[in-house]
Amino acid sequence: MLLEIKDLSVSYRNDEGEVNPAAIDVNLTLDRGQVLGIVGESGSGKSTVSMSVARLLPSPPAFYPKGRILLDGVDMLTLPLPELRKMRGRKIGVIFQDPMGSLSPLHRIGEQLVETILLHEKMSPKAAEAMALEWLGKVGIPDPAVRARAYPHELSGGMQQRVMIAMGLMLGPDLVIADEPTTALDVTIQAQVLRLMRDLHQSNSGVLLITHDLGVVSQMATKLAVMKDGRVVETTDDPAAFFEMPKHPYSQGLIREAKRMELEA
Ligand SMILES: Nc1ncnc2c1ncn2[C@@H]1O[C@H](COP(=O)(O)OP(=O)(O)OP(=O)(O)O)[C@@H](O)[C@H]1O
Ligand SMILES: [Mg+2]
Repeated sequence: MLLEIKDLSVSYRNDEGEVNPAAIDVNLTLDRGQVLGIVGESGSGKSTVSMSVARLLPSPPAFYPKGRILLDGVDMLTLPLPELRKMRGRKIGVIFQDPMGSLSPLHRIGEQLVETILLHEKMSPKAAEAMALEWLGKVGIPDPAVRARAYPHELSGGMQQRVMIAMGLMLGPDLVIADEPTTALDVTIQAQVLRLMRDLHQSNSGVLLITHDLGVVSQMATKLAVMKDGRVVETTDDPAAFFEMPKHPYSQGLIREAKRMELEA
């Protein structure tokens, strides 16, 4: 099993010392070749769980009262920081909602890609540069050699998002975590980017896809988890059947709401 989340609880502690449990007894598994969609309303704990997997939650305020996160059998929660850094990029690729949050504003995007490649791969700077340009092309950025010289703020939101997707996928990570990867984009680009992600993620990797967009999930996910108030309330290995006949009343409500919004749109 690529990823096993076992009885995971994650809480946040505020300045007054009060504890807010954001994930409670979460159990999820993801194999290579699968896309696990996590859906649920805002604040249900989707990002908390997914960011925990890459240990990207600032801690404090986050802490882990309970549970394990095994990535190929390695417990992410007890992994020393240097080993964790080695894993990010190579073993885990992360695609965030906000590209500016993970791209450095101070460096040209080509440099950032090359730097990430050289951090993980034994190759010459020249080969790394060729690889960076190849990936800019793969994610649909026109004139890669020209755009590689741009700073993030010189690119549109959609282009930034594509750079981040290249960053998340180019090292062929075993696990791709995409948290609302397309929310910041307009609708036509969203579809394009999702198709890219589906085509580009290697078939022997697993994808954890977080979104509140049920349309996106129904197109991409091979399995599904519904979260509410920090808990997983329903899981299925058959998303199509789930959309026809969700078991949990909360899931039924989510789908009803999504269909209503579709009609209004
Ligand atoms: N840094 C933080 N400090 C304190 N509480 C937090 C922090 N981040 C998240 N929370 C709380 O944890 C709970 C779960 O939040 P989380 O961001 O995981 O939800 P989400 O499902 O990703 O929501 P959204 O769809 O809005 O992204 C919420 O109650 C939220 O307020
Ligand atoms: Mg979130």
